[in-house]
Amino acid sequence: RDAPLVLGIETSCDETGIGIVRGDRLLSNTIASSMEQHARYGGVVPEVAARAHLEALGPSIRAALAESGVALADLDAVAVTSGPGLAGALMVGVGAAKALALSLGKPLYAVNHLVGHVGADVLTEQPLETPTIALLVSGGHTSLLLVRDLVDDVELLGETIDDAAGEAFDKVARLLGLPYPGGPEIDRAAIGGDPTAIRFPRGLTLPKDLERHRYDFSFSGLKTAVARWVEQREDAGEPVPVADVAASFREAVVDVLVTKALAACRDLGVPRLLLGGGVIANRRLREVAVERAAATGVDLRIPPLSLCTDNGAMIAALGAQLIMAGRQPSGLAFGADSTLPV
Ligand code: KG4
Ligand code: ZN
Repeated sequence: RDAPLVLGIETSCDETGIGIVRGDRLLSNTIASSMEQHARYGGVVPEVAARAHLEALGPSIRAALAESGVALADLDAVAVTSGPGLAGALMVGVGAAKALALSLGKPLYAVNHLVGHVGADVLTEQPLETPTIALLVSGGHTSLLLVRDLVDDVELLGETIDDAAGEAFDKVARLLGLPYPGGPEIDRAAIGGDPTAIRFPRGLTLPKDLERHRYDFSFSGLKTAVARWVEQREDAGEPVPVADVAASFREAVVDVLVTKALAACRDLGVPRLLLGGGVIANRRLREVAVERAAATGVDLRIPPLSLCTDNGAMIAALGAQLIMAGRQPSGLAFGADSTLPV
């Protein structure tokens, strides 16, 4: 029997993602983002995101079908992100997925967004190897996972206790007067800057913090430290060395992310690390991860960026894995769950 043909719907944040896969083969991956509508607010506005999903879903599903040459009637199943994420945004995707599955008479699979990020890796050339540590960093999440088995055994090791890493990039960009989204702006501003110019704090890395928060992250103290540093400069009437601030801030974020992920690899005896989430676009993060993983004998996997940022293909891929593992569909009685655990 052929591998299952699955359409995946992702609407947990500001990307309307529709993906179609056959088993571990990617057929289409269309993404419509409402990013531009959020730019003037400096962050994702939930109401705006939900409305944008509602408008984008129909055309996006059509585009994904056209791109893959798949007819709706040929689908074996529909998969949808049921959480975690923005409640209103999730609800739009879940509603659409239920309507589609019901009208087609096809099974529906509710999947976890974070596990979906890991699932994206099955679509790459080398199949996902487990166990692996997964570091997922975006504007909405910063999570460290131990994946023993994609379908059966994913454990949350730690997560941010305040801001997500991408959120920290966005907030620091804003206080440096740079536009949203801040990640690429900080990357650009950091060119030529000295990453050792200012020693910004590394959140939750002191011995007393490591006891309780070994694999957790905190970026709000860092953001405040940058704000205070910039303010002092301005109060003293001195120019702000934007390139040095951007490079030093980025170094602090990258250092903590990579250090904690590799610590998990070492502590748990898992010599594999998978990266996911939009912040993976950060050049310095990839550079440091590659260097330090090689130095510690960890096999590093970085899927292409189109599979790292939020997308529907990863949701479809996880749905297909659930089907191939013999899982029962979710039915129609589940709801969106903004705090769904892994
Ligand atoms: O995964 P994503 O597209 O959407 C969600 O947040 O779910 O990630 C977007 C986040 C934003 O916070 C953005 O500033 C950040 O990823 N980002 C970056 C870079 N490109 C995007 N952060 C750091 N460096 C980058 N080059
Ligand atoms: Zn995500």
